[in-house]
Amino acid sequence: MERTTTVIPQADVERQLDCCRKIAALTAQWDKQPLAFVDTYGCQQNEADSERIRGYLAQMGFGFTDDEEQARIIVINTCAIREHAEQRVLGNVGALVHVKRRHPEQLICLCGCMMQEQHVADKIRQSYRHVDLVFGPHALWKFPEMIHTLLTQRGRIFSNADEAGSIAEGIPVVRQDSVKAWVSIMYGCNNFCAYCIVPYVRGRERSRKPEDILAEVRALVAEGYKDITLLGQNVNSYGKDMEEPMDFSDLLEQVNAIPGDFLIRFMTSHPKDATHKLFETMARCEKVAPVLHLPVQAGNDRVLKVMNRRHTREQYLEKIRDLKSLIPDIVLTSDIIVGFPGETTEEFEDTLKVLEEVRYDALFTFIFSPRVGTPAAKMDDPMSHQEKLANFNRLLALQDAISEEKHAAYIGKTVRCLIDGESDDARYDLTARTPGNRLVRVVGDKSAIGQFRDVKITDANKWSLFGELV
Ligand code: SAH
Ligand code: SF4
Ligand code: F3S
Repeated sequence: MERTTTVIPQADVERQLDCCRKIAALTAQWDKQPLAFVDTYGCQQNEADSERIRGYLAQMGFGFTDDEEQARIIVINTCAIREHAEQRVLGNVGALVHVKRRHPEQLICLCGCMMQEQHVADKIRQSYRHVDLVFGPHALWKFPEMIHTLLTQRGRIFSNADEAGSIAEGIPVVRQDSVKAWVSIMYGCNNFCAYCIVPYVRGRERSRKPEDILAEVRALVAEGYKDITLLGQNVNSYGKDMEEPMDFSDLLEQVNAIPGDFLIRFMTSHPKDATHKLFETMARCEKVAPVLHLPVQAGNDRVLKVMNRRHTREQYLEKIRDLKSLIPDIVLTSDIIVGFPGETTEEFEDTLKVLEEVRYDALFTFIFSPRVGTPAAKMDDPMSHQEKLANFNRLLALQDAISEEKHAAYIGKTVRCLIDGESDDARYDLTARTPGNRLVRVVGDKSAIGQFRDVKITDANKWSLFGELV
């Protein structure tokens, strides 16, 4: 499965923008402005892709709605990471058959990681005949030409070939937020963790050029963005595929040097590639937020090996110790899988030991879900779901206790937070984020949204902090 990166020539992206203009000329003649509904599942990478789809749609003359009845085009950007995510998507797509019956002119488009799985695309072709367009992440850049074909001819389009991953610059974006922004710095993954579908659906690692990334960040800062997250499945291997050697720490340093008052975050980091140089760079760069998401997945060396994570528990813990010695107030988070095939309860308890030693601020926890085509899906999995669930609940209980203690330690402190929106809890006006990305619900005036402000922390629970503007 040798695949190399395709850099999409600028002329090809221009051709897509021409297509947008042709579509805009068509839609301008319709009796009212057409609307599009873009629904996103999965990780930030998908959120970022949806912002590019919205960017293209806006150039085609579309406005946006959250009501599928009002939409001329529905785009569902899907995630394949666990079975539950796939089931939800299929359920929602199935229900759209009724909506489309009421609005036969509607175009229903499915994209994202699930569509890059051939067995899913086949199922859509056969059993979901109301779906007009299916495309995988590799084909996103040619969304306009596919829409143009569908608007001018009848038929269905399936564009999900297992081709080389691409990089396309110059695609317009419509961002969902005016304070926080995602910036993809690389695409794909080379790691092939035994349970994971991502390398199969997102292709091999490929890095954007530093000058393109820096230009995007500079433009965001000029627009007033305050919180910028550099995205990739494994940002620590940034640049390894480039001709001129440059690593992620060098990139961080250059982003940090961009003038302005803003925070830099990044995700995700793979422990095997997280280096002392990275930790030192984080400590030195004042705009880099004191937070690291460093997924450990499991705490037992045998399980880590079968997972193909390529590090031991002790190597992981040593990195955490090094990082804590450089940044004592570092906020740490992790992903954990419970019930990997063959993991015994005794081995699972090694994961609990890692929690006790690291004391994460928060965790993202998952029960193993077999994914077609991955090695783990073929492994013997003797443990019952009930037993896995019991272990899962032990993990949650331990983490809840740790999160609660860590959050309680904020009470009485004044923390410079980014006020990022309105609170949905009526007792508080605003939401904010600490530099370490902990959620704070804040009493104060809405005019503070989009600013860094001192917040006095008055209360806390296991999920969040509470406070007031100073
Ligand atoms: N690239 C990132 C995250 C990838 S997906 C990383 O390497 O950390 C996010 C998380 O989903 C993973 O960290 C893992 O904990 C979880 N995950 C991935 N595949 C899974 C599966 N088959 N079953 C359960 N959880 C899974
Ligand atoms: Fe999946 Fe592993 Fe790649 Fe993360 S590093 S995307 S878990 S294969
Ligand atoms: Fe899901 Fe694809 Fe992200 S599988 S987690 S949307 S990379």
